[in-house]
Amino acid sequence: MTEVQSAPTDTATPPFLPRRWTTADIPDQQGRTAVVTGANSGLGLRTAEALAAKGAHVIMACRNELKAAAALESVFAAATGPKPEVLPLDLADLSSVRRAADHLDMRGAGIDLLINNAGVMALPRSIRTADGFDAQFGTNHLGHYALTGLLLPALLRAEAPRVVTISSVAAWGGFINWSDPNWRVLHLRWLAYSQSKLANLLFTAELHRRARAAGTRLTAVAAHPGLSSTHLYDSDGEKGVGARLAAAQQRMIFSLAQSDRMGALPQLYAATTPGLRGNSYVGPAFEAFGYPRRALRNPLAYSRLQAGALWRMSERLTDVHYEWP
Ligand SMILES: NC(=O)c1ccc[n+]([C@@H]2O[C@H](COP(=O)([O-])OP(=O)(O)OC[C@H]3O[C@@H](n4cnc5c(N)ncnc54)[C@H](OP(=O)(O)O)[C@@H]3O)[C@@H](O)[C@H]2O)c1
Repeated sequence: MTEVQSAPTDTATPPFLPRRWTTADIPDQQGRTAVVTGANSGLGLRTAEALAAKGAHVIMACRNELKAAAALESVFAAATGPKPEVLPLDLADLSSVRRAADHLDMRGAGIDLLINNAGVMALPRSIRTADGFDAQFGTNHLGHYALTGLLLPALLRAEAPRVVTISSVAAWGGFINWSDPNWRVLHLRWLAYSQSKLANLLFTAELHRRARAAGTRLTAVAAHPGLSSTHLYDSDGEKGVGARLAAAQQRMIFSLAQSDRMGALPQLYAATTPGLRGNSYVGPAFEAFGYPRRALRNPLAYSRLQAGALWRMSERLTDVHYEWP
């Protein structure tokens, strides 16, 4: 699968964004409901706080009850509108994804904004999802693919629903390992992460295309945070050499990276800027750091062939089939 297409003309974000776009530029979010995955930590937490501060009803979809309860306090402290809520969600378990989506759908209200933010990075082969997928592919891509599809009815109840999926500069090094997407034969953790982040971009492109083809108002866009100080670089329970390497890596990253508040700006821009074109990709001005602007992407992310094939593979692996009107 090597076919690469040039960027369709309607996919670009305006290249000249305001030079220093900040949370102060977020328009009023009153009356809007925003679901943020992984909202208890790092970029998700900062995103939840900023949206709540502008009046959105924020639903924090998190896997760890204790961490979520602590984070809820800070989002609550920032909120100027409806009380934020926590929704239990483990993206590494499709039954949990179905429960979370059912819970939201049964409320009958629309979801204006879904921010597919949660993620794990470079975890070892031993960590797999409940359904046996590679941790990165299963959590970062398949979990969000399934969640978005199951929330489609609720998203389409909103007036102008938007899905923002968080990718990474790591997507530049990514390719889809078509014969072994769950890295069972040879597990290369960084390539597994890069694959999942390329998948986030291919997913956004295909979601945008399908939403438009179905004549819906749903907009799918992507963002990346550059290099930001968060818990993404933690060792996730590894012991021995793996843990020591992760700690050293974390110290190095923290000395170079921008803050999580800065890192959250591209996804906040992507989530709240009115009229943003479908399949836009927003990142920091200098790739690793800076204020939001249009981001460049791995040319593979423009492949319709790969986006379509990944979609069909995701349907097969998750058994989630989007029901367009
Ligand atoms: N920080 C960076 O420099 C950087 C760079 C490029 C891209 N990104 C992307 O930014 C996004 C946010 O990451 P972050 O940097 O803010 O890292 P973080 O502080 O580790 O936050 C990740 C969030 O995802 C949650 N999560 C992980 N697995 C989950 C699962 N199975 N179900 C539900 N939630 C799960 C985590 O929950 P727990 O707290 O329970 O673990 C946490 O809330 C990720 O998609 C990441 O790939 C980050």
